[in-house]
Amino acid sequence: MAETKKIAVISGDGIGPEVVAEALKVVKKTEELFGYKFETEEGLFGGIAIDQKGTPLPQETLDICKKADAVLLGAVGGPKWDSNPGELRPETGLLGIRKALGLFSNIRPAVVFDCLKEASTLKPEVLEGTDLIVVRELTGGIYFGEKLRRQGESGEEAVDTCVYNVKEVERIVRQAFEIARTRRKKLASVDKANVLETSRLWRETVNRIAPDYPDVELEHVLVDNCAMQLLRRPSSFDVIVTENMFGDILSDEAAMLTGSIGMLSSASLGEGSFGLYEPVHGSAPDIAGKGIANPIATILSVALMFRLTFGYHDAADSIERAVKEVLDAGHRTGDIAVDPSQAIGTTAMGDLIIAAM
Ligand code: NAI
Ligand code: MG
Repeated sequence: MAETKKIAVISGDGIGPEVVAEALKVVKKTEELFGYKFETEEGLFGGIAIDQKGTPLPQETLDICKKADAVLLGAVGGPKWDSNPGELRPETGLLGIRKALGLFSNIRPAVVFDCLKEASTLKPEVLEGTDLIVVRELTGGIYFGEKLRRQGESGEEAVDTCVYNVKEVERIVRQAFEIARTRRKKLASVDKANVLETSRLWRETVNRIAPDYPDVELEHVLVDNCAMQLLRRPSSFDVIVTENMFGDILSDEAAMLTGSIGMLSSASLGEGSFGLYEPVHGSAPDIAGKGIANPIATILSVALMFRLTFGYHDAADSIERAVKEVLDAGHRTGDIAVDPSQAIGTTAMGDLIIAAM
């Protein structure tokens, strides 16, 4: 009998609850098919938590997350809370939860499904076989360095500071090597070592620990070159690891190789196997409550959880194969439909995927 794994479920706002409900059907189906055992506990988060508890991230929700092995998050936010002050904004809860749970990397897969590659702005033959993951450092770099404004000799100046220490670089690079090991065993470390001192430290650190992973093929790529290669030869990448700001930009670039935002999964990881899994998209207030949201991003986030936190590769394979099969059979939600009049709804898509598992 498999050990029972605890999943904290925070559905959030807008389409969050709709897409999370479909993802939980997949979790349940996995128990039936593979004999794994999961226990889920739900917590309030985001706008709904502001309305009911007066804060986007109630302590009890945080406690539920800390007790769990992994967190499944829908999405938060919406026009109702947009004019709230900072501490009463759903997005503040997102930053708070990452910090409180010690999450230091963001993992964004970019997978091109063959049957959807016509929908991309790139040529299908360039996209063929694209299946990569961007591992972005989340806690350091220029976003968190000292900032200041001052009067310089020729007027007002602003300063942003980029700081990285060896420990921060080493923990994320090791994580990326480990992820590469479970895949095609290729790691591209992206930096700007020809110009930036933080990048030189980054590259030195990568080279120092690389001998621990002799089975993984390592290449160093300068960030500007990486931006070009992602459009020229995306299928040649497996795992890309990079610092915070480069990762912010490259992960959005990589996401657009694949077409729809409704298909993109993500994870935020800390020490050990704990992780928070969520679709890349937001709460989509424009379509919330209509039952038409694409649940695939959240369902693929569950597959990512099974792979990265639990090591349940058989279950993850089954989910990913099922998604591909349903798409290959021509089923589409509105956001990815060629003919919107043929589109199916959120629950119908979820049902087809669990049937295909
Ligand atoms: P969004 O991702 O919610 O929506 C952008 C567009 O994509 C909309 O037209 C939406 O209908 C569509 N879309 C998104 N997910 C979809 C899905 N699963 N199926 C079909 N169509 C989908 O981004 P937007 O509009 O910028 O933000 C809306 C709210 O979400 C804001 O309050 C924002 O702050 C919040 N947000 C929350 C995030 C999170 O919880 N991690 C991330 C991004 C935004
Ligand atoms: Mg971004």
